[in-house]
Amino acid sequence: MKFFIDTANLKEIQKASDLGVLDGVTTNPSLMAKEGITGKQNILEHYVKICQLVDGDVSAEVVATDYEGIIREGEELAALHPNIVVKVPMIKDGVKAIKYFSQKGIKTNCTLVFSAGQALLAAKAGATYVSPFIGRLDDIATDGLQLIEQIVQIYNNYGFKTQVLAASIRHVMHLVQCAEIGADVATCPLNVITDLLKHPLTDIGLEKFLADYRKGNL
Ligand code: E4P
Repeated sequence: MKFFIDTANLKEIQKASDLGVLDGVTTNPSLMAKEGITGKQNILEHYVKICQLVDGDVSAEVVATDYEGIIREGEELAALHPNIVVKVPMIKDGVKAIKYFSQKGIKTNCTLVFSAGQALLAAKAGATYVSPFIGRLDDIATDGLQLIEQIVQIYNNYGFKTQVLAASIRHVMHLVQCAEIGADVATCPLNVITDLLKHPLTDIGLEKFLADYRKGNL
């Protein structure tokens, strides 16, 4: 399973990378705005900085919603760095653009996916990744993990190459259950990745080992 970090914060990306388990980055316009990155030129430069920090795929989202605009913006983003993946929303012109990009060999991440039907369409169009949003489904009392199961099964049934990128992950249980189901990638905030380290028995056990060592070696 690949681990992506879901942020545009360079320090957090560096911390996850330092842990040695980071395979890529996902961003979206809200995450860029959260870091105060505004204006086209600044946004493009920020993507390049992210690509320089991580040796893996970096999703950069288009903001155009019409076919020509998505193509123009996506080609510009893809030209920034070989690791850029063009993130395209699940809308009609987005699906058409994903088909175009896949024929041109440009990697895509189909975002804002909330149903198995949408995921099927993204795979048919040739998306590299599909991003079902677990947490946002949970927020409306719908089982986000069940959607991951459905998509994994559908893609396995037909051998679709599109990778299931579980997104909107809020906590460790989401991440672990995605791994059990067989999602190819999980993207989550830094705290979810570092929370994987935590177990009270690890802390208690380590404290005891060190105390016993000190008793015999002082
Ligand atoms: C996916 O790529 C999105 O950036 C992200 O996972 C959305 O998460 P949120 O629902 O916590 O905003």
